[in-house]
Amino acid sequence: MENKVEREGKGLRGKVEDNSSLNLQWFPGHMKKAERLIRENLKIVDVVIELLDARIPLSSQNPMLKEILGEKPRLTVLTKSDLADDVLTSNWIKKFRAENISAVAVDAAHGKGIKNLVAEVKKLAETKTHKLTKYGAKPRSARAMVVGIPNVGKSSLINKLAGMNHAKIENRPGVTRAKQWIKIAEGLDLLDTPGILWPKFEDKEAALKLAWTFAVNDETYDLEISAKLLLETLVKKNPAGLCGRFKLAEPLSEVGEELLQEIGMKRGCIRKGGVLDTEKVIRLVLSEFRSGKLGKITLDDLPS
Ligand code: G4P
Repeated sequence: MENKVEREGKGLRGKVEDNSSLNLQWFPGHMKKAERLIRENLKIVDVVIELLDARIPLSSQNPMLKEILGEKPRLTVLTKSDLADDVLTSNWIKKFRAENISAVAVDAAHGKGIKNLVAEVKKLAETKTHKLTKYGAKPRSARAMVVGIPNVGKSSLINKLAGMNHAKIENRPGVTRAKQWIKIAEGLDLLDTPGILWPKFEDKEAALKLAWTFAVNDETYDLEISAKLLLETLVKKNPAGLCGRFKLAEPLSEVGEELLQEIGMKRGCIRKGGVLDTEKVIRLVLSEFRSGKLGKITLDDLPS
């Protein structure tokens, strides 16, 4: 590459082969506690709304959720659909439905898909509430709760649902303490506290995608390796987005290190003495990807 700026600090040269320093962890104690809280709330809800990031419908799944939920009706919601590839999102939804899992996509940032989500939850809950009234119980509102890994959009969705109906929040005695319920539609209440699930950090590829989509904190892994691998992936997934946004010349390099340098130069991430400001360019790349400026990109392919 021409016009190479001097490179500061450590860093791998050439294509990045090793992502072993992506050390994503949840401590066993935290996982047990998260699981216990969800199991406790499961006893008082009829439907679980499982949030998955539409960009990584596979990698944002919690490995134990199926077992924790047992027979409890579940709606799978692909969140942040504004950031994912529309065709792939629709294919993922078809795939879930083909496996008998109800699924919808939402974009809580712009309020898209929310009404559809409510209708689906009501449909799933009615099976349960109808059954109860059939056996002589007093009719009651159906109850749902939201679960998902950190940053998948739980609070944003709950806020959207709460705002939709000028929702009333009421106290109701729960298992161990008063639970707050939000009335999101006629006959449908939502628990205001989501269940937080731990991510799939043992799978290296999933861990990377979780890092890129900010499901884990930037402090927990090597940002430089992560940014280079992201660039190498984007060259394959959406080269046009990368070229367009950073005004890069084609053919694009397939080497993350070189791409980082080129982007750094284009965007003026240079320190005194012509040295690349590595930290600045890394954060720029990650932030532009996360906000969708590099395109609507789905990182998890559908299993063939
Ligand atoms: P969590 O409760 O599951 O941890 O996630 P939360 O709702 O806090 O959302 C995490 C981040 O994702 C927030 O951005 C939020 O705005 C963003 N987000 C949630 N849903 C959507 C969506 O449908 N589309 C897009 N594009 N973004 C979404 P943040 O930068 O952490 O905070 P802020 O920008 O809202 O202040």
